[in-house]
Amino acid sequence: METRVLEIDPLEDCRAAYREAAALLAEGQLVAIPTETVYGLGADAFNADAVAQVFAVKERPHFDPLICHLPNAAAVHEIADVPEGLRGLVDTLAAEFWPGPMTLVLPRRACVPDIVTSGLPTVACRVTSHEAMRGVAKALGHPVAAPSANRFGHISPTSAAAVLKELGGAIPLVLDAGACSEGLESTILAPCLDDKGNPAVRVLREGPITREKLREVCRVLKPAKKGAQEDAPSAPNAPGQLKSHYAPSKPLTLCSPFGPFTPQPGVRYGLISYKGESKLAQMDCWVEKMSLSPGSGRLAEAAVRLFAVMRAMDECEDVDAIVAEELPTVGLGAAMMDRLTRAAADRNA
Ligand code: TXA
Ligand code: MG
Repeated sequence: METRVLEIDPLEDCRAAYREAAALLAEGQLVAIPTETVYGLGADAFNADAVAQVFAVKERPHFDPLICHLPNAAAVHEIADVPEGLRGLVDTLAAEFWPGPMTLVLPRRACVPDIVTSGLPTVACRVTSHEAMRGVAKALGHPVAAPSANRFGHISPTSAAAVLKELGGAIPLVLDAGACSEGLESTILAPCLDDKGNPAVRVLREGPITREKLREVCRVLKPAKKGAQEDAPSAPNAPGQLKSHYAPSKPLTLCSPFGPFTPQPGVRYGLISYKGESKLAQMDCWVEKMSLSPGSGRLAEAAVRLFAVMRAMDECEDVDAIVAEELPTVGLGAAMMDRLTRAAADRNA
């Protein structure tokens, strides 16, 4: 199959392109659609056969549920049944962070096919700030079920070119709106009641809406320590958050910016550095060096570039193995370290 790339400029009127994408989705086909986080591989969420194609094309296991993209916050109630005790919290989160890089896991309605939610009693709902995904969902008249548009376990695509490398030839259309403005997948939250019955959120996946930002508007449960009692045992987990994920094809190791790093003889290393000025970056063992935010170091800039830099390093012919500098785990650094740790995890573990 030939994959057509349709360039769109969201500053202009793109409705014809959104209608074209929606027409393909209505036929049961798949379309790659940009969001502000990463490109998504979209299917009509109410067409179980089309959603099955998403799993097939991505080679994604069926236990890993998909996010439903909605044209606006009001549409959440068409697919989710928000419990009375959580309505205030959900309204606050929606008002603060939608449209934007936040996904809410909520009790599902029966109209959502089992395959979308992997049979779970909940559905993941998102209203992206990218006009393209919202425009296509509006034109379709149904939610768009869309995981990141990469093969399962690979690096998420933050440009149409990256989508083509992952899925070129397997889907009929990519809407190309250029590079994604956030660069990291959405923060996934499970609104729940804590052990005292108060509304709170559990962070199922760290992302652009940081814990610090969330704490300004609601109670945020601390990550449960291994073996410890959860403070909201009924809140769901994110089944797709596997230990190894977001992985380049080359081995990736994490290292402190202060070192030490001992290169193995005969291995050609590429370094992904935060600012490019660390003790680690000054070692002379790197055949290639890329910085996420050269100079003063801004986490937001690093986040936007992280997946593109990982991909570029993976494609670099001179490099056998990748070393990535550990980042500060505050703010956006937490989400980036989550992705890097999974990228570094042993794939056979
Ligand atoms: O930014 C994003 O969220 C991007 C764009 C395309 O929207 N999407 C994305 O989708 O990252 P994906 O499929 O790569 O990751 C979604 C994750 C799943 O792996 C799963 O862990 C979690 O969302 N998820 C989906 N439905 C869930 C549910 N009902 N309960 C718990 N977790 C769920
Ligand atoms: Mg993904």
